[in-house]
Amino acid sequence: MSAPQLLIRDLAQVASPAGSGAPLRGEALRAIDVMRDGYVLCEGGRIAATGRMRDLGPIDGDVVEIDGRGRSAIPGLVDCHTHACFAGDRVEEFSLRAGGASYEELHARGGGILSTVRATRDAGEEGLAAALAEHVGWMLRAGTTTFEAKSGYGLDRKTELAQLRAIRDAGGAPTWLGAHAVPPEFAAEGGDAYLDFLLDEVLPEAADVAEAADVFLERGAFDADQARRYLSACRDAGLALRLHGDQFTEAGAIPLAIELGARSVDHLEATGQAGVEALAASDVTGVLLPASALFLNRPMPPARGLVDAGAAVALATDFNPGSAFCESLPLVCSLAATQMSLAPEEALSACTVNAAHVLDRADRKGRLVPGYDTDIVLLAAEDWRHVVYHLGGPVVDAVVVGGKVASDSRA
Ligand code: NIG
Ligand code: FE
Repeated sequence: MSAPQLLIRDLAQVASPAGSGAPLRGEALRAIDVMRDGYVLCEGGRIAATGRMRDLGPIDGDVVEIDGRGRSAIPGLVDCHTHACFAGDRVEEFSLRAGGASYEELHARGGGILSTVRATRDAGEEGLAAALAEHVGWMLRAGTTTFEAKSGYGLDRKTELAQLRAIRDAGGAPTWLGAHAVPPEFAAEGGDAYLDFLLDEVLPEAADVAEAADVFLERGAFDADQARRYLSACRDAGLALRLHGDQFTEAGAIPLAIELGARSVDHLEATGQAGVEALAASDVTGVLLPASALFLNRPMPPARGLVDAGAAVALATDFNPGSAFCESLPLVCSLAATQMSLAPEEALSACTVNAAHVLDRADRKGRLVPGYDTDIVLLAAEDWRHVVYHLGGPVVDAVVVGGKVASDSRA
């Protein structure tokens, strides 16, 4: 027996990034198609049709209906940069930072990322999968239906691979961030020796599970030469490339991303005008993480300048226990509008179609159009822009993933 069709009816608005290509840049980033009094019909995990209620004819076969009255529909949100696969928390460190300690100092003293490495190594495969499942549940309730997550809290062979498998098994897009920090075992030998180990002993198996590789290119982490060596080897092994760059300092991340044909360069809080112009002239997407900038009390990335210069930008949470304990893309959209002068339309495109592009899924994720996956967020508001406007509020009312109702406040 075939699965019933799903009809979301009587929606005040159906809102979707316009057009069909990706990534969206400039004026195209703010083009959202909005249909009033609409419906979305889904069949076999795909959107079969959208339209006005007055044009909805009879539907053959079994239909499950969802009440859209007083609600608006947007595409399921795509979080293209998270570190959701971690154990433990860093609430102690958060308290120290609130009292004035700096994130970089804590990292240099063996806290920060390395304290999550200890907790993640100790969790074991089952504990890690359970922690990830809890975090994925939080993301889902906030409207995220597609997520990327990175390793980088194992920094040994066993735990890095366990992280990648856990992410894959939870339905995420796994990114290998072996080059996140130099672990204590290599403190004496240094970053080059650690990279030798990663490339010789972890990459062959990591490349079977991960879709992309990422590196933390920053003072106190890895420099541009080390990042080039790591990423080149990962590219040769078939992985797409991402970079953490310009978070605290400009250390060559944008030129390297362009040189290597990376899919994205992420953070950019420290990016100056030359970097903005170089990125805008390239095919590399700039992934902006305003929750991280807020959480660390750092400057926001130059989002307005990037968009106006024609760069492809995406928005993501950077969800992690140290620099962004925040799983909410709606909150990130609010920060984009209030702190980075992006229009609600630009914010929506940046965390749907453009984020899907970073994950190489823009042909089936990030739009509410026929043929796309049935990943839909219903908002508790008639105007879809409440997803940006309602700062930290309960704006996500129902979530449909892969044609199944994952949550619905009215069910
Ligand atoms: O994107 N900057 C490097 N990595 C993460 C933070 C990881 C952590 O603090 O645990 C980031 O901010
Ligand atoms: Fe990150």
